[in-house]
Amino acid sequence: MTTENLDALRDELLAEVAAASDLDALDALRVAALGRQGRITDLMKGLGQVAAEQRRERGQALNVVKDAVAGAIAARQEALETAALDARLVDERIDMTLPPRPQTAGRIHPISQTIDEMVAIFCEMGFQVAEGPHIETDFNNFTALNIPPEHPARQEHDTFYLPEKEDGSRRVLRTHTSPVQIRTMLDMKPPIRIIVPGRTFRADYDATHSPMFHQIEGLVVDETTHMGHLKGCLIEFCRAFFGVDELPARFRPSYFPFTEPSAEMDIGCSREGGGLTIGAGADWLEILGCGMVHPKVLENCGIDSSRYQGYAFGLGIERAAMLKYGIPDLRTFYESDLRWLRHYGFAPLDIPTVAGGL
Ligand code: PHE
Repeated sequence: MTTENLDALRDELLAEVAAASDLDALDALRVAALGRQGRITDLMKGLGQVAAEQRRERGQALNVVKDAVAGAIAARQEALETAALDARLVDERIDMTLPPRPQTAGRIHPISQTIDEMVAIFCEMGFQVAEGPHIETDFNNFTALNIPPEHPARQEHDTFYLPEKEDGSRRVLRTHTSPVQIRTMLDMKPPIRIIVPGRTFRADYDATHSPMFHQIEGLVVDETTHMGHLKGCLIEFCRAFFGVDELPARFRPSYFPFTEPSAEMDIGCSREGGGLTIGAGADWLEILGCGMVHPKVLENCGIDSSRYQGYAFGLGIERAAMLKYGIPDLRTFYESDLRWLRHYGFAPLDIPTVAGGL
Protein backbone atom coordinates (compact mmCIF):
# COMPACT_ATOMS: atom_id res chain seq x y z
CA MET A 1 0.00 0.00 0.00
CA THR A 2 1.41 3.41 -1.00
CA THR A 3 1.49 6.51 1.16
CA GLU A 4 -1.53 7.97 -0.69
CA ASN A 5 -3.39 4.78 -0.06
CA LEU A 6 -2.54 5.02 3.64
CA ASP A 7 -3.94 8.55 3.68
CA ALA A 8 -7.06 7.30 1.93
CA LEU A 9 -7.43 4.49 4.47
CA ARG A 10 -7.04 6.98 7.34
CA ASP A 11 -9.65 9.34 5.87
CA GLU A 12 -12.05 6.47 5.27
CA LEU A 13 -11.68 5.16 8.84
CA LEU A 14 -11.97 8.65 10.38
CA ALA A 15 -15.14 9.28 8.38
CA GLU A 16 -16.63 6.00 9.60
CA VAL A 17 -15.71 6.83 13.20
CA ALA A 18 -17.32 10.25 12.92
CA ALA A 19 -20.47 8.65 11.51
CA ALA A 20 -20.75 5.93 14.21
CA SER A 21 -24.10 6.63 15.82
CA ASP A 22 -23.82 4.44 18.91
CA LEU A 23 -21.28 2.69 21.11
CA ASP A 24 -21.89 -0.75 19.56
CA ALA A 25 -21.26 0.50 16.04
CA LEU A 26 -18.14 2.29 17.24
CA ASP A 27 -16.80 -0.88 18.89
CA ALA A 28 -17.40 -2.87 15.68
CA LEU A 29 -15.37 -0.24 13.82
CA ARG A 30 -12.57 -0.47 16.39
CA VAL A 31 -12.36 -4.24 15.98
CA ALA A 32 -12.42 -3.95 12.14
CA ALA A 33 -9.53 -1.44 12.15
CA LEU A 34 -7.41 -2.16 15.23
CA GLY A 35 -8.54 -5.64 16.35
CA ARG A 36 -6.36 -8.74 15.97
CA GLN A 37 -7.43 -9.12 12.35
CA GLY A 38 -8.16 -5.46 11.78
CA ARG A 39 -7.11 -3.60 8.64
CA ILE A 40 -4.38 -1.56 10.34
CA THR A 41 -3.19 -4.54 12.35
CA ASP A 42 -2.88 -6.53 9.11
CA LEU A 43 -0.76 -3.79 7.56
CA MET A 44 1.46 -3.78 10.66
CA LYS A 45 1.90 -7.53 10.36
CA GLY A 46 2.83 -7.07 6.68
CA LEU A 47 5.80 -4.80 7.56
CA GLY A 48 8.06 -7.88 7.61
CA GLN A 49 7.59 -8.24 3.85
CA VAL A 50 8.51 -4.60 3.11
CA ALA A 51 12.02 -3.99 1.77
CA ALA A 52 14.42 -3.16 4.63
CA GLU A 53 15.22 0.39 3.42
CA GLN A 54 11.50 1.38 3.37
CA ARG A 55 10.45 -0.46 6.47
CA ARG A 56 11.25 2.27 9.00
CA GLU A 57 9.48 5.05 7.13
CA ARG A 58 6.55 2.80 6.39
CA GLY A 59 6.28 1.76 10.03
CA GLN A 60 6.26 5.35 11.19
CA ALA A 61 3.55 6.28 8.67
CA LEU A 62 1.43 3.33 9.79
CA ASN A 63 1.83 4.32 13.41
CA VAL A 64 0.64 7.85 12.65
CA VAL A 65 -2.48 6.43 10.96
CA LYS A 66 -3.05 4.00 13.84
CA ASP A 67 -2.72 6.77 16.48
CA ALA A 68 -5.05 9.04 14.53
CA VAL A 69 -7.72 6.35 14.25
CA ALA A 70 -7.36 5.22 17.88
CA GLY A 71 -7.54 8.84 19.08
CA ALA A 72 -10.66 9.49 16.99
CA ILE A 73 -12.33 6.36 18.36
CA ALA A 74 -11.57 7.39 21.97
CA ALA A 75 -12.93 10.89 21.39
CA ARG A 76 -16.04 9.58 19.65
CA GLN A 77 -16.60 7.09 22.48
CA GLU A 78 -16.49 9.84 25.09
CA ALA A 79 -18.90 11.98 23.10
CA LEU A 80 -21.35 9.08 22.66
CA GLU A 81 -21.16 8.20 26.38
CA THR A 82 -21.86 11.77 27.41
CA ALA A 83 -24.80 11.94 25.03
CA ALA A 84 -26.16 8.63 26.37
CA LEU A 85 -25.92 9.87 29.96
CA ASP A 86 -27.62 13.16 29.08
CA ALA A 87 -30.44 11.28 27.38
CA ARG A 88 -30.84 9.04 30.41
CA LEU A 89 -30.96 11.99 32.80
CA VAL A 90 -33.68 13.62 30.74
CA ASP A 91 -35.53 10.33 30.47
CA GLU A 92 -35.43 9.56 34.20
CA ARG A 93 -36.12 13.06 35.37
CA ILE A 94 -38.48 13.25 38.37
CA ASP A 95 -40.26 16.48 39.15
CA MET A 96 -39.86 16.62 42.92
CA THR A 97 -42.18 19.59 43.13
CA LEU A 98 -45.22 17.64 41.91
CA PRO A 99 -47.69 16.77 44.69
CA PRO A 100 -47.91 13.03 45.41
CA ARG A 101 -51.09 11.47 44.11
CA PRO A 102 -51.93 8.31 46.02
CA GLN A 103 -53.65 5.93 43.64
CA THR A 104 -54.50 3.51 46.43
CA ALA A 105 -58.07 2.69 47.33
CA GLY A 106 -57.01 2.01 50.95
CA ARG A 107 -58.52 4.15 53.66
CA ILE A 108 -57.49 5.08 57.21
CA HIS A 109 -60.01 3.72 59.72
CA PRO A 110 -61.87 6.45 61.61
CA ILE A 111 -60.51 5.07 64.92
CA SER A 112 -56.92 5.45 63.72
CA GLN A 113 -57.68 8.90 62.34
CA THR A 114 -59.31 10.01 65.59
CA ILE A 115 -56.37 8.74 67.65
CA ASP A 116 -53.94 10.58 65.35
CA GLU A 117 -55.93 13.78 65.73
CA MET A 118 -56.07 13.52 69.52
CA VAL A 119 -52.36 12.72 69.73
CA ALA A 120 -51.59 15.74 67.54
CA ILE A 121 -53.55 18.06 69.81
CA PHE A 122 -52.15 16.77 73.10
CA CYS A 123 -48.58 16.57 71.82
CA GLU A 124 -48.82 20.20 70.79
CA MET A 125 -49.66 20.89 74.47
CA GLY A 126 -46.53 19.03 75.61
CA PHE A 127 -47.89 15.54 76.33
CA GLN A 128 -45.96 12.41 75.42
CA VAL A 129 -47.53 9.17 74.22
CA ALA A 130 -47.22 6.17 76.57
CA GLU A 131 -48.43 2.62 76.03
CA GLY A 132 -49.14 -0.50 78.03
CA PRO A 133 -50.14 -4.13 77.45
CA HIS A 134 -53.73 -5.30 76.94
CA ILE A 135 -53.26 -8.09 79.49
CA GLU A 136 -52.81 -6.46 82.89
CA THR A 137 -52.25 -7.48 86.45
CA ASP A 138 -55.17 -7.12 88.83
CA PHE A 139 -52.96 -4.73 90.79
CA ASN A 140 -52.39 -2.27 87.91
CA ASN A 141 -55.94 -2.41 86.58
CA PHE A 142 -57.67 -2.16 89.98
CA THR A 143 -55.85 -2.29 93.32
CA ALA A 144 -53.24 0.40 92.68
CA LEU A 145 -56.01 2.62 91.29
CA ASN A 146 -57.68 2.51 94.69
CA ILE A 147 -60.17 -0.16 93.65
CA PRO A 148 -59.54 -2.89 96.26
CA PRO A 149 -61.01 -6.41 95.90
CA GLU A 150 -64.75 -6.39 96.73
CA HIS A 151 -64.99 -2.72 95.71
CA PRO A 152 -68.31 -2.27 93.85
CA ALA A 153 -66.53 -0.52 90.97
CA ARG A 154 -65.09 -3.90 89.99
CA GLN A 155 -68.54 -5.23 89.13
CA GLU A 156 -69.28 -2.23 86.94
CA HIS A 157 -66.29 -3.02 84.79
CA ASP A 158 -67.58 -6.39 83.44
CA THR A 159 -64.02 -7.66 83.50
CA PHE A 160 -62.62 -10.43 81.30
CA TYR A 161 -60.48 -12.54 83.63
CA LEU A 162 -57.67 -14.86 82.55
CA PRO A 163 -57.37 -18.28 84.26
CA GLU A 164 -56.06 -18.08 87.81
CA LYS A 165 -52.33 -18.72 88.27
CA GLU A 166 -50.95 -21.19 90.83
CA ASP A 167 -50.29 -18.41 93.35
CA GLY A 168 -53.98 -17.44 93.13
CA SER A 169 -53.36 -14.22 91.17
CA ARG A 170 -55.42 -13.52 88.07
CA ARG A 171 -54.65 -11.29 85.18
CA VAL A 172 -57.30 -9.35 83.29
CA LEU A 173 -57.87 -7.77 79.90
CA ARG A 174 -57.52 -4.15 80.93
CA THR A 175 -60.93 -2.57 81.42
CA HIS A 176 -59.60 0.96 80.90
CA THR A 177 -56.33 2.69 79.97
CA SER A 178 -55.84 3.84 83.59
CA PRO A 179 -53.39 1.01 84.48
CA VAL A 180 -50.87 2.82 82.27
CA GLN A 181 -51.05 5.66 84.84
CA ILE A 182 -49.69 3.17 87.37
CA ARG A 183 -47.04 1.78 85.02
CA THR A 184 -45.85 5.28 84.19
CA MET A 185 -45.70 6.47 87.80
CA LEU A 186 -43.82 3.34 88.88
CA ASP A 187 -41.44 3.87 85.94
CA MET A 188 -40.58 7.55 85.97
CA LYS A 189 -40.33 10.48 88.34
CA PRO A 190 -42.53 13.57 88.08
CA PRO A 191 -42.97 15.83 86.23
CA ILE A 192 -45.19 13.47 84.21
CA ARG A 193 -47.31 14.52 81.27
CA ILE A 194 -48.57 11.58 79.21
CA ILE A 195 -51.46 10.46 77.06
CA VAL A 196 -52.28 6.80 76.47
CA PRO A 197 -54.38 5.84 73.47
CA GLY A 198 -55.24 2.15 73.27
CA ARG A 199 -57.61 -0.80 73.34
CA THR A 200 -59.72 -1.69 76.34
CA PHE A 201 -62.05 -4.63 77.01
CA ARG A 202 -65.33 -5.18 78.86
CA ALA A 203 -67.77 -8.08 78.66
CA ASP A 204 -70.59 -6.01 77.25
CA TYR A 205 -72.24 -6.00 73.84
CA ASP A 206 -75.15 -3.96 72.51
CA ALA A 207 -75.78 -0.99 70.20
CA THR A 208 -73.64 1.32 72.36
CA HIS A 209 -71.17 -1.16 73.86
CA SER A 210 -68.53 -3.35 72.28
CA PRO A 211 -66.38 -5.91 74.14
CA MET A 212 -63.32 -4.21 72.65
CA PHE A 213 -63.19 -0.45 72.42
CA HIS A 214 -60.64 2.37 72.67
CA GLN A 215 -59.85 4.99 75.24
CA ILE A 216 -57.34 7.76 75.56
CA GLU A 217 -56.00 8.40 79.05
CA GLY A 218 -54.24 11.52 80.25
CA LEU A 219 -52.02 11.95 83.30
CA VAL A 220 -50.20 15.00 84.62
CA VAL A 221 -48.21 14.90 87.87
CA ASP A 222 -46.00 17.70 89.17
CA GLU A 223 -45.80 20.07 92.15
CA THR A 224 -48.11 22.85 91.00
CA THR A 225 -50.83 21.49 88.71
CA HIS A 226 -54.37 22.12 89.93
CA MET A 227 -58.00 21.72 88.87
CA GLY A 228 -57.83 24.94 86.85
CA HIS A 229 -55.18 23.39 84.64
CA LEU A 230 -57.35 20.30 84.18
CA LYS A 231 -60.27 22.41 83.03
CA GLY A 232 -58.17 24.62 80.77
CA CYS A 233 -56.49 21.65 79.12
CA LEU A 234 -59.68 19.69 78.48
CA ILE A 235 -61.72 22.66 77.26
CA GLU A 236 -58.89 23.57 74.90
CA PHE A 237 -58.69 19.97 73.71
CA CYS A 238 -62.42 19.69 72.97
CA ARG A 239 -62.45 22.99 71.10
CA ALA A 240 -59.53 21.89 68.93
CA PHE A 241 -60.88 18.38 68.38
CA PHE A 242 -64.42 19.41 67.42
CA GLY A 243 -63.22 22.56 65.66
CA VAL A 244 -65.63 24.81 67.56
CA ASP A 245 -63.91 27.89 69.07
CA GLU A 246 -66.66 28.87 71.49
CA LEU A 247 -67.66 25.33 72.46
CA PRO A 248 -69.56 25.53 75.78
CA ALA A 249 -68.26 23.15 78.46
CA ARG A 250 -69.21 22.26 82.01
CA PHE A 251 -67.80 20.00 84.71
CA ARG A 252 -70.24 17.96 86.83
CA PRO A 253 -69.15 16.39 90.13
CA SER A 254 -68.76 12.65 89.73
CA TYR A 255 -67.00 9.68 91.29
CA PHE A 256 -63.99 7.60 90.32
CA PRO A 257 -62.02 5.70 92.97
CA PHE A 258 -58.71 6.96 91.56
CA THR A 259 -59.47 10.69 91.43
CA GLU A 260 -60.56 13.14 94.11
CA PRO A 261 -62.35 15.36 93.38
CA SER A 262 -63.79 13.68 90.29
CA ALA A 263 -65.82 15.19 87.48
CA GLU A 264 -67.49 14.45 84.21
CA MET A 265 -67.14 16.94 81.41
CA ASP A 266 -70.07 17.86 79.19
CA ILE A 267 -69.93 19.86 76.00
CA GLY A 268 -72.72 21.93 74.50
CA CYS A 269 -74.84 20.53 71.71
CA SER A 270 -78.14 21.00 69.98
CA ARG A 271 -80.60 18.23 69.16
CA GLU A 272 -82.94 20.45 67.20
CA GLY A 273 -84.57 18.79 64.21
CA GLY A 274 -83.58 15.30 65.25
CA GLY A 275 -79.88 15.69 64.39
CA LEU A 276 -77.01 16.36 66.75
CA THR A 277 -74.79 19.42 66.40
CA ILE A 278 -71.77 19.98 68.62
CA GLY A 279 -71.54 23.61 69.79
CA ALA A 280 -73.89 26.11 71.37
CA GLY A 281 -77.39 24.78 71.96
CA ALA A 282 -79.88 23.81 74.60
CA ASP A 283 -78.37 20.40 75.44
CA TRP A 284 -75.30 18.87 77.04
CA LEU A 285 -73.38 15.81 76.03
CA GLU A 286 -71.14 13.84 78.35
CA ILE A 287 -67.70 13.50 76.79
CA LEU A 288 -65.16 12.33 79.39
CA GLY A 289 -64.31 11.48 83.01
CA CYS A 290 -61.57 13.27 84.91
CA GLY A 291 -60.31 14.44 88.28
CA MET A 292 -57.32 15.21 90.49
CA VAL A 293 -55.18 12.10 90.98
CA HIS A 294 -56.15 10.52 94.33
CA PRO A 295 -53.32 10.83 96.89
CA LYS A 296 -53.62 7.09 97.59
CA VAL A 297 -52.87 6.35 93.93
CA LEU A 298 -49.74 8.51 94.09
CA GLU A 299 -48.65 6.75 97.31
CA ASN A 300 -49.34 3.32 95.75
CA CYS A 301 -46.74 4.27 93.15
CA GLY A 302 -44.20 5.58 95.65
CA ILE A 303 -44.86 9.25 94.88
CA ASP A 304 -44.95 11.65 97.85
CA SER A 305 -48.52 13.00 97.80
CA SER A 306 -47.66 15.88 100.14
CA ARG A 307 -45.34 17.22 97.47
CA TYR A 308 -46.82 16.05 94.16
CA GLN A 309 -50.28 16.31 92.68
CA GLY A 310 -51.90 16.29 89.26
CA TYR A 311 -54.86 15.36 87.18
CA ALA A 312 -56.05 12.46 85.05
CA PHE A 313 -58.74 11.99 82.45
CA GLY A 314 -60.19 9.22 80.32
CA LEU A 315 -62.18 9.50 77.14
CA GLY A 316 -63.87 6.99 74.83
CA ILE A 317 -62.45 7.22 71.32
CA GLU A 318 -65.35 5.56 69.46
CA ARG A 319 -67.81 7.91 71.08
CA ALA A 320 -65.74 10.97 70.17
CA ALA A 321 -65.37 9.70 66.59
CA MET A 322 -69.12 9.03 66.30
CA LEU A 323 -69.90 12.55 67.49
CA LYS A 324 -67.35 14.27 65.28
CA TYR A 325 -67.97 12.30 62.10
CA GLY A 326 -71.67 11.54 62.46
CA ILE A 327 -71.24 7.76 62.65
CA PRO A 328 -74.54 6.45 64.04
CA ASP A 329 -73.77 2.87 65.11
CA LEU A 330 -70.85 1.73 67.26
CA ARG A 331 -70.88 -1.82 65.95
CA THR A 332 -70.07 -0.74 62.38
CA PHE A 333 -66.54 0.22 63.51
CA TYR A 334 -65.57 -3.45 63.71
CA GLU A 335 -67.50 -4.98 60.81
CA SER A 336 -64.73 -4.37 58.25
CA ASP A 337 -67.35 -3.45 55.67
CA LEU A 338 -65.44 -1.92 52.77
CA ARG A 339 -68.34 0.25 51.68
CA TRP A 340 -68.50 1.70 55.20
CA LEU A 341 -64.73 2.23 55.23
CA ARG A 342 -64.82 3.98 51.86
CA HIS A 343 -67.51 6.28 53.19
CA TYR A 344 -66.17 7.06 56.66
CA GLY A 345 -62.44 6.37 56.12
CA PHE A 346 -59.70 8.93 55.46
CA ALA A 347 -57.20 9.32 52.62
CA PRO A 348 -53.82 7.90 53.66
CA LEU A 349 -51.87 11.12 53.08
CA ASP A 350 -54.37 13.28 54.94
CA ILE A 351 -52.17 13.36 58.01
CA PRO A 352 -53.86 15.31 60.81
CA THR A 353 -51.99 18.32 62.10
CA VAL A 354 -53.07 21.10 64.42
CA ALA A 355 -51.71 23.65 61.96
CA GLY A 356 -53.71 22.07 59.13
CA GLY A 357 -56.91 22.24 61.18
CA LEU A 358 -56.72 18.44 61.57
N1 PHE B 1 -60.88 5.09 83.68
C1 PHE B 1 -62.14 5.79 83.71
C2 PHE B 1 -63.17 4.96 82.93
O1 PHE B 1 -62.81 4.07 82.22
C3 PHE B 1 -62.02 7.16 83.10
C4 PHE B 1 -61.18 8.08 83.91
C5 PHE B 1 -59.80 8.15 83.72
C6 PHE B 1 -61.74 8.90 84.87
C7 PHE B 1 -59.02 9.01 84.47
C8 PHE B 1 -60.97 9.76 85.63
C9 PHE B 1 -59.61 9.81 85.42
O2 PHE B 1 -64.35 5.22 83.00
